[in-house]
Amino acid sequence: MLEKHSRAHVLSRIRAGVLEQTTVDVLRANGLSERMDREGQPHDGMRVVWAGRDGIFIDVAKHVGKRFMTYGQTCIQEDLFAAADRRQALVLTGVERVTLDQLLSDCPLVRFRHNGDEIVLACEFVAGCDGFHGVSRSAIPVSARREFTKDYPFGWLGILARTRPLTDIIYANHPRGFALASARGPNLSRYYLQVPLDTKIDDWPDGRFWAELKARYPADLANEIVTGPSIEKSVAPLRSFVSEPMRYGRLFLAGDAAHVVPPTGAKGLNLAVSDVFYLARALRAFYCDNSTTLLDCYSEMALRRVWSSVRISWYLTMLLHRFPGSSDFDQRAQEYELEYLKSSKPAQVALAEQYAGLPFEGPN
Ligand code: PHB
Repeated sequence: MLEKHSRAHVLSRIRAGVLEQTTVDVLRANGLSERMDREGQPHDGMRVVWAGRDGIFIDVAKHVGKRFMTYGQTCIQEDLFAAADRRQALVLTGVERVTLDQLLSDCPLVRFRHNGDEIVLACEFVAGCDGFHGVSRSAIPVSARREFTKDYPFGWLGILARTRPLTDIIYANHPRGFALASARGPNLSRYYLQVPLDTKIDDWPDGRFWAELKARYPADLANEIVTGPSIEKSVAPLRSFVSEPMRYGRLFLAGDAAHVVPPTGAKGLNLAVSDVFYLARALRAFYCDNSTTLLDCYSEMALRRVWSSVRISWYLTMLLHRFPGSSDFDQRAQEYELEYLKSSKPAQVALAEQYAGLPFEGPN
């Protein structure tokens, strides 16, 4: 495993934190769940509030029989490093100038620089798990792939605080803009505000953040929000992106290297896990059964699940945010779509099913 940054850097970043049942199951099946089962917080679903009303609870457990877990990606990263060390896997950090070569041959080459040495690694397969800005995707010739992109005209300003979070994950649609309440532990809250793309963090001292957050929630919820000093604050733009196919010869892309979703719906980390689940199963079939069937359908199978989550993240982003230039009409149309959701059980079941994420496909 080649990693550009140091372990300390990887473990210092606050990233995603809501795990689908499928992700929890994969971590459990691979012996990675001990701490997650101890420290993670289970959730039956999520709440949506709007226009100062009490909103609706989308009961995923009741409608689809699946639950969620709030457990930070940073903790998963720690658990993965610990597991890699236990099995003495080679994890090189601080790796520079990675290039991929001979991807259409049976022996692709990965060249890189590590501790001043130029190294060439002769591989059987390459898993490109290096994120949206990584080198793997760009090693595929432009003529051999197609990109689908949507950039949204706003970002999310997120903060982490050592305060008691609200009980549920709560999405808010408000004329002032979207807000979200989430958690990273029983005494660690994570909140987000929709902000313009050119937002500067220095313009958002904690007092301004908490006041704006409370203004976007109905009064009873706003009163329940426990404020305190932030321990992290960052702005992230929102984007939908898919690059097809997810395979080129012996290179297999997984996670953000192949696709990016806006955080609305909390799908990014879960999609990375499902890609890796499909890829690991395909590699096992190759090495144990001498079969390339699953490798050959990896891209198609992974993309079915990817597009399902790309679609629900896009839908929730469009439904819950205030778009620049949008009118009172647009705001009302969103609110009445939410009223419809509140009044219709089939609509709630459909949203619950999509929010939960598709089940994995069988190998046949
Ligand atoms: C988070 O906890 O960071 C989170 C939760 C729900 C989302 C996105 C992010 O939709």
